[in-house]
Amino acid sequence: MQEKINNLKKEILDKLSQAKDSRFLKELEVFYLGRKGEFTKILRDIANVAPEERSAAGKFANEVKNEIQKKFNELKEKFEESSEDVKDIDVSLPGEKINIGHLHPITQIQYEIEDIFNSMGFAVLDGPELESDYYNFEAINIPPHHPARDMQDTFYIDLPNKDGENDLVMRTHTSSVQVRAMLKHGAPLKAIVTGRVFRSEALDVRHEHTFYQVEGFLIDKDINFSHLKGILELVGKKLFGPETEIRMRPKFYPFVEPGTNGEYTCNICHGKGCNLCKKTGWLEIVGAGMIHPNVLKAGGIDPNEYQGYAFGFGLNRLAQLKYNTDDVRLFNGGDLRFINQF
Ligand code: PHE
Repeated sequence: MQEKINNLKKEILDKLSQAKDSRFLKELEVFYLGRKGEFTKILRDIANVAPEERSAAGKFANEVKNEIQKKFNELKEKFEESSEDVKDIDVSLPGEKINIGHLHPITQIQYEIEDIFNSMGFAVLDGPELESDYYNFEAINIPPHHPARDMQDTFYIDLPNKDGENDLVMRTHTSSVQVRAMLKHGAPLKAIVTGRVFRSEALDVRHEHTFYQVEGFLIDKDINFSHLKGILELVGKKLFGPETEIRMRPKFYPFVEPGTNGEYTCNICHGKGCNLCKKTGWLEIVGAGMIHPNVLKAGGIDPNEYQGYAFGFGLNRLAQLKYNTDDVRLFNGGDLRFINQF
């Protein structure tokens, strides 16, 4: 009996020395120590050993079994730590949950706005973030050295463009796409532009150097200020609820005439006055106006034949109002504790 056990032990240890991964190890364990395994059979046979030898044989067999089991366990641990281990895959195990991301809150607002304007027949256009001084300023009626340039703190790029001129800026607004679109598509034209814009701002809870805007413009025959008011009022109601009202007050933007600052009734206090609206009941949201004839001309459109309106919203501002957050910098700050709340 003892000899049989010793032989089997030798065979098992020999096989174990060849084991290279836990899949093979598992097969060996089942083959020798499993319920119908070779070693298990021997343990069962001990019942047939002559009574005077039975207890010694049993003791010996158990010692050997423990020794072998220990060897198996040691190897199991060793393989589990190794990255090259080949394991059996249990297809019945529940899968590991994969974390799925979600759209950034600004992207969510962007899509919402794109949907609103798409439903009214506006195309969604795009334009470059690294822009020429020409499209960002000059073409839209802001000549070099004009004081209106001070309205937007600009990142001027200290590199020549492809024609060797120092003409590059990070676009300060999506209005830079107006003339590009006119030249490309002509009139009539009905489009919005969403995208990232950049300003050399001193940062605080309301100012970021990188933020998002949506620009809209419509150019056609017989377009007047009431069309502009109508669309801005409608967008306000869609974004902030049907009871939202708009008021428009004069504001200077070089690329529109007349220019206006659109304010909506505060969506927190509904016009009563609170901290968000600085007790006025109104929130300053959108810059707008009738497109300046010089801008139409730069876009190759005859201002005597066509008129148009243009407007620009800050998407960060809309997100801030929608989610009532007090620091605009959180949106691009990269802190997932903030972002994952949306
Ligand atoms: N481009 C302006 C800004 O960034 C907003 C605006 C767009 C104003 C269109 C009037 C017309 O402040």
